[in-house]
Amino acid sequence: MPNIAFLGAGRMASAIVDGLLAQKICAPSELACTDGGHGTALALAARTGITAASDLAALLATADTVVLACKPQQLATLDPRVTDLAAGRLVLSILAGKRLARLAQVFPRARNVVRAMPNTPGQIGAGITAWCPLQPLAPADRALIDAILGALGQVVEVAEPQLDAVTGLSGSGPAYVFEFAAALRDAGEAAGLPRATAWQLARETVLGAAKLMAQSPLEPEELRNQVTSPNGTTFAGLQRMAARDFRGLVKETVLAATARSEELSRD
Ligand SMILES: NC(=O)c1ccc[n+]([C@@H]2O[C@H](COP(=O)([O-])OP(=O)(O)OC[C@H]3O[C@@H](n4cnc5c(N)ncnc54)[C@H](OP(=O)(O)O)[C@@H]3O)[C@@H](O)[C@H]2O)c1
Repeated sequence: MPNIAFLGAGRMASAIVDGLLAQKICAPSELACTDGGHGTALALAARTGITAASDLAALLATADTVVLACKPQQLATLDPRVTDLAAGRLVLSILAGKRLARLAQVFPRARNVVRAMPNTPGQIGAGITAWCPLQPLAPADRALIDAILGALGQVVEVAEPQLDAVTGLSGSGPAYVFEFAAALRDAGEAAGLPRATAWQLARETVLGAAKLMAQSPLEPEELRNQVTSPNGTTFAGLQRMAARDFRGLVKETVLAATARSEELSRD
């Protein structure tokens, strides 16, 4: 792998570094990072053996690819030398809501720019990341993007206008699942279970159902039907979900997050 420089050394950069090292895609000597001055780069370097660069010029001198992993609002605070220093490099941004046109203003002479939307299960290699390029990617750059984002889990290429919907679905989606698990726990408690038991049952049910879904070729509706006997217990529960338009609520949820992503991307 060519050398990769991370601008930002927080949770997402750490997850990518961890994945690249764990899967032996990169050696620590091929990775370097910098931060905004609060010691996160040194901490990541100490934990993983990669380099914490104190100077942007030194960081980018040997880098072929630059991963932009600071907070979106920190894009404006980047060292302005980055524009020249990133010339000829492949730039991969994971900043939420920063469109390719805006990134191209900061990196006008980059070899290419890719915008990606990962999600938090990427921290354990179980994420899914959607991405889109500014210009069609050269095969070698596509392989680089697949390897870097693959460190977080699955990858899918989309057109840039779809990234707001991606944000509304898989970007925010883990929070919906956590909220569902918490609701299931509270409901179990309301049904008479001790809270700890209700949590264990709720968590393992979400996890087990997710694993079954991942391993089965069946549509979720078919898996649902396998649990549902006519007039049985699951049938009674599902009827209540339908009566309260559960699917309509989930649709509203994703559309609200998508609309908010569109709003936040308008700068
Ligand atoms: N977490 C998620 O689920 C998720 C999902 C999708 C997308 N994203 C995107 O991933 C990005 C990173 O998120 P995160 O959760 O990893 O954030 P984070 O943990 O807060 O890390 C941000 C990193 O950026 C560094 N930084 C700040 N200013 C900088 C500058 N001027 N130059 C270089 N580095 C700078 C920070 O360094 P110091 O703190 O040491 O100053 C820190 O290492 C965000 O843009 C977010 O939109 C996150």
